[in-house]
Amino acid sequence: MTQTPVPPVPPSPALTRTVLKACADLARFTETPGQITRTYLSEPTRDVHAYLTAWASRLGLRASVDAAGNLRVRREARTPDAPTLYLGSHLDTVPNAGAFDGVLGVVLGLALMEALGNATLPYAAEVVGFSEEEGVRFGVPYIGSRTLVGSAEPLLDLTDRSGVTVRGAMAAYGLSPDDLPAARASGNTLGYLELHIEQGPVLEAAGQRVGVVSAIAGQDRVTLDFWGQASHAGTTPMTQRHDALAAAAALVVETERLARATPGLVATVGVLEVHPGATNVVPGHVSCSLDVRHAENAQRGHALKHLLAAAQASAAERGVILNTHIRSQQDATPMDDRLKALLHRAAEDVGEAHAELVSGAGHDAVIVAQQMPVAMLFLRSPGGLSHHPDEAVLEEDVAAALRVGERFLHLLALEV
Ligand code: HGY
Ligand code: MN
Ligand code: MN
Repeated sequence: MTQTPVPPVPPSPALTRTVLKACADLARFTETPGQITRTYLSEPTRDVHAYLTAWASRLGLRASVDAAGNLRVRREARTPDAPTLYLGSHLDTVPNAGAFDGVLGVVLGLALMEALGNATLPYAAEVVGFSEEEGVRFGVPYIGSRTLVGSAEPLLDLTDRSGVTVRGAMAAYGLSPDDLPAARASGNTLGYLELHIEQGPVLEAAGQRVGVVSAIAGQDRVTLDFWGQASHAGTTPMTQRHDALAAAAALVVETERLARATPGLVATVGVLEVHPGATNVVPGHVSCSLDVRHAENAQRGHALKHLLAAAQASAAERGVILNTHIRSQQDATPMDDRLKALLHRAAEDVGEAHAELVSGAGHDAVIVAQQMPVAMLFLRSPGGLSHHPDEAVLEEDVAAALRVGERFLHLLALEV
């Protein structure tokens, strides 16, 4: 006779406070005093792992760090051959980040394990703290989640600004890329649930605490190098210049114009490095980034093609050579219908009105979806602000996410 899972006990207010305290505690682990910056396998990552491992141990769960530096916390099922539900998000941050992007999803995953108490589930649960989602150190996102689905190997020889390869960063952290295959998700999976802040204004405008994600917008990341000619700012006639910054500036303005004029398109030049970077020298070289996103793949493709052509024309007009390097391209990722429906039911069961919304931000779920069904639950972002130190969450929204998440786990158990 199969046991019915223990009836859900709504997570306690104390657990909500545990979540918020954990996010505040983890925010202290940073490469840059006075701000939150934690890039791939930087030393503060060890402190984050130690903090979460101690919490997992208190819950009687086994924590480990895999070959890519992902933290893996596993809660076994009642039977060894049971399938696994993965939960989690990322532990790395952008420079000068807020305290919740990514981290909150890992902390909520552990909190849900705590909320389960001794309930025996017909599936194993594995909370993953992905080691690299933002793509800050190596310019390519998702090294952690690519490891889970077995596609990280091609990235191993990418180098960071100081010439260290991904392989080297792993070795410096005490990890071996040879163990990457062992880090892959098991084949027997139920899916992946990621809880994350919305990072935008939609839920706040709708007056809702949580939202079910319908799809994650597609995203292209490109590096452009404009090679002109450095020369004297005082003696070089305007008609004889090859000004790399003027060429790049035309792209920056066209990027904003196109995105403002195209519904659903967002496009950003977030990095722009000027060389040699002196007041009295015409810029000889500019390296910049281009981030293009849209929920429709064809629209994103048109936009990228238009902007690369505009960059080429702007360079040619000034006798500047343009090199472009497409660093990553992800198509829009729809969420799994079955898991999404369970999330909706869980939210309804606990009285949480919720919108369904597209995620403009990329998430590890984009990569994990290559191997298993995925679903995401968003928490409201006050002020719609993220990738900023003032990023925040509301206590009541964390409590709502815990109630929905806990109900989801029990509804899933009834279906296994
Ligand atoms: O860039 C993004 O969308 C995410 O924050 N990595
Ligand atoms: Mn982010
Ligand atoms: Mn994130």
